[in-house]
Amino acid sequence: MKLPGMVDVHVHLRVPGGEHKEDFRTGSAAALAGGITTVLAMPNTFPPIVTIDQLSVAQETANRQSLCDVFMYAGASAEHLNELPRLGEQAPALKLYMDQTYGPLKTNGLENLLRVFESWPKNKVICIHAEQESIAAALGLLNAAPRPIHFCHVSRKAEIELIAAAKRQGLPVTCEVTPHHLFLTEQDATRLGRLGDMRPTLAEQRDVDALWEHINTTIDCIATDHAPHTLQEKQGENPPPGVPGLESSLPLMLTAASQGRLSYERLVEMMHFTPRRIFSLPAQPETWVEIDPDSRYEFPDHPLYTKCGWTPFAGLAMQGRIRQVVLRGKTVVKDGVVLSDVNQD
Ligand code: NCD
Ligand code: ZN
Ligand code: ZN
Ligand code: ZN
Repeated sequence: MKLPGMVDVHVHLRVPGGEHKEDFRTGSAAALAGGITTVLAMPNTFPPIVTIDQLSVAQETANRQSLCDVFMYAGASAEHLNELPRLGEQAPALKLYMDQTYGPLKTNGLENLLRVFESWPKNKVICIHAEQESIAAALGLLNAAPRPIHFCHVSRKAEIELIAAAKRQGLPVTCEVTPHHLFLTEQDATRLGRLGDMRPTLAEQRDVDALWEHINTTIDCIATDHAPHTLQEKQGENPPPGVPGLESSLPLMLTAASQGRLSYERLVEMMHFTPRRIFSLPAQPETWVEIDPDSRYEFPDHPLYTKCGWTPFAGLAMQGRIRQVVLRGKTVVKDGVVLSDVNQD
């Protein structure tokens, strides 16, 4: 079965400042190994990407070092609100953190939030880390400053229902859900210990069920929130939240499709066409993923390419194997091996 190259609009590649966790080369290799040929990289780096200069340097580094297409987000920070219009000429989207999570970015205060909503170009989306009541707050801001917004990693029943209601009212709202929130619950968090901690945290079975009930309607994209941290960090003092996901996302969704939980067409919509449309991403000519939908195996079926070297899905029974990835006419993955000298300058 031939699928288009998958698009992941939420990954953390950790450049600059977190290169011991991931870098453009290892992160993009992990993406390709997972059948993902385009990623959007988050700005919660050290320092964060909040100025034109930082964005330009990070994007140029990404272009030089990545094996797949990488687009850098700009980050919203109260200190650099003046730069938003110019950042908006370069970045495909803005990331706004309304709640506390890993990294140095969080924007507080109604005035700041309104200015962010007003300053970012209206033809580009603002992606928001908003949990629980923060989703209602973001929707409320649309009254004063109507504009497209996109909710990251929606994980709770009440959240997806609120977003569904907003969509019914015609508000310019889209959202993504991660594979870990579709496949794991708080029971898995107990089993996984510190490796099962991420933001939003894993939820109850009723939340997972609610997400699946909205799989053909409210959910626009599957995005990994690939958030690599080393095992040493996860098992040390003050463990940072986040789990890697680039190499398990398509295998998990293929497994769900093989079980009839969604159609292959719907999978491709949420992992290729809709993210490309929301973020106005360019097409990649001669790019596809060859999969064997019948092949069964225990994950992972290849040594992981992410620098953090672990996965919360180790040992899971999967059905649907990535055989080959072709990017712009070149074979870049063959049977779990990233052919890393291709697409390099
Ligand atoms: C992310 C990270 O590590 O950068 N962690 C996480 O638990 N999801 C931050 C984020 O996406 O909120
Ligand atoms: Zn600054
Ligand atoms: Zn987040
Ligand atoms: Zn994230």
